[in-house]
Amino acid sequence: MTNSNHQDDTPRVDDHTGTETTGHSWDGIEELNTPLPRWWLIVFYVTIVWALIYCIFMPSFPGLPGLRNHSERANVQQQMEQVAVDRTALASQLLSDVSLEEIEQDPELFQFVMAAGKSAFGDNCATCHGIGGRGVPGYPSLADDVWLWGGTLEDIRHTITHGIRAHSDETRFSMMPSYGIDGLLSPEEIDDLAVFVSNFSSPHSNQAAIDRAAPVFEAQCSTCHGTNGQGDRSMGAPNLTDAEWLYGSDVKTIRSQIRNGRNGVMPNWGERLDETTIVALSVYVHALGGGEATTVAEAEPRDEHADAGSLAAEDNGAEQGGK
Ligand code: HEC
Ligand code: HEC
Repeated sequence: MTNSNHQDDTPRVDDHTGTETTGHSWDGIEELNTPLPRWWLIVFYVTIVWALIYCIFMPSFPGLPGLRNHSERANVQQQMEQVAVDRTALASQLLSDVSLEEIEQDPELFQFVMAAGKSAFGDNCATCHGIGGRGVPGYPSLADDVWLWGGTLEDIRHTITHGIRAHSDETRFSMMPSYGIDGLLSPEEIDDLAVFVSNFSSPHSNQAAIDRAAPVFEAQCSTCHGTNGQGDRSMGAPNLTDAEWLYGSDVKTIRSQIRNGRNGVMPNWGERLDETTIVALSVYVHALGGGEATTVAEAEPRDEHADAGSLAAEDNGAEQGGK
C-alpha cells in the first residue's frame, strides 16, 4: 500500500492502466509516466529549428539585418515613392485639359488640388511668404486682396512661373530707382517725400513738407505709382494710399525705400517645379483669401470696401510690420 507522500520512489506498473508510474505519490494518488506523444515532440523540435533558421535569415536582433537583408522600412519607403509617382501621374492626367477656373468649380478636383498646393506651398514658399502666405516685410502677403502684379488665377500663375525680377524672359519686371543712393534727389527732398507719401494713409500736420513734395512726386513718382499714389499693377508699383505696406508704413521705412529703392526678387518656379505643382500652387494662392475673378473690373469696388473697413485695424499690423 502507498498511502503517504514519497514513501516509495521505485517506479512500478500501475495495475489498472498497465502504465508505468514515476514513483511519485501524494495521498495515495500515483503519478503515471505518460510521455508526450511523438508527433507533438517532433513538431516542437521543428519549431525550434525553424526559429533558428528564421533568426539567421531575417532581421531578428537589433543591428543585424539577417542574410536575406529584408527590411519592412525599405519596403514601405518604396511603396510610398510608388504612391507619389502614381499620384503625380494621376494629377497630371486629371488636370491635363481643364482650365484653372474649371478646377475651382469642381469640388472634388478643387479639394485634391488644394491639398497638393498646400503641401507644395509649405515646402517652397512659406520660407519667404510665411506660413499660410501671411507675409513679412519685403515679402507680400498672399492672403489679402492687395496685389502688386495681379490677383486673377492667370496673373498668379504667370508670377509663380516666371517670377519677379528673376531669370526668365517673361519675368515681371520694373525697377524703382534708388533716389538717395544714386543722388537723383537731395536728402531734404526725400524727407519731404516720405511725409508726403505717409500723408496718403495717415494725415500729417507738416503741410509745408507736403506742399514742397507734391511737384516732385508728380514729376518723379507718378509714372509708376499714379498721380494719386494709387499704384500701377503693370509696373508692380504698390498702392501708397492703402493700409497694406510691402516694407512698412512708418515715415522712416518709407524714407528708406525712397532712398534705397529695394526691388524684391521672387524666384521663377517654372524651371524648378512641374506644371501640375504650379497649377496646384496657383489655385491654392488664389483661394487663400484675396483671389480675384478673371474680370478685374468687378474686383475694384470690393477693394475699396475692404480698405475702408480695415483701415483702423490694419494700422497696428502695419506698424509692427515696419519694425
Ligand atoms: C526667396 C523668397 C521667395 C520665395 C521662396 C517665394 N517668393 Fe513669392 N515673392 C517674393 C517677393 C520678394 C515678392 C515680391 C516681389 C516684389 O517686390 O514685387 C513675391 C511675390 C509673389 C507673388 C506676387 C504677389 C502680388 O502681390 O502680385 C506671388 C503670387 C508669389 N510671390 C507666390 C509665391 C509662391 C507660390 C511661391 C512658392 C512656389 C513663392 N512665391 C516663393 C519672394 C519669394
Ligand atoms: C519705375 C517705377 C517706379 C518709380 C519711378 C517709383 N517707384 Fe516706388 N516703387 C516701385 C516698385 C516696383 C515698388 C515695389 C518694390 C518692390 O517690389 O520691392 C515701389 C515701392 C515703393 C514704396 C514702398 C511701398 C510699400 O508698400 O512698402 C514707396 C514708399 C515708394 N515706392 C515710393 C516712391 C516714391 C516716393 C517715388 C518717387 C520719388 C517712387 N516710389 C518712384 C516703382 C517705382
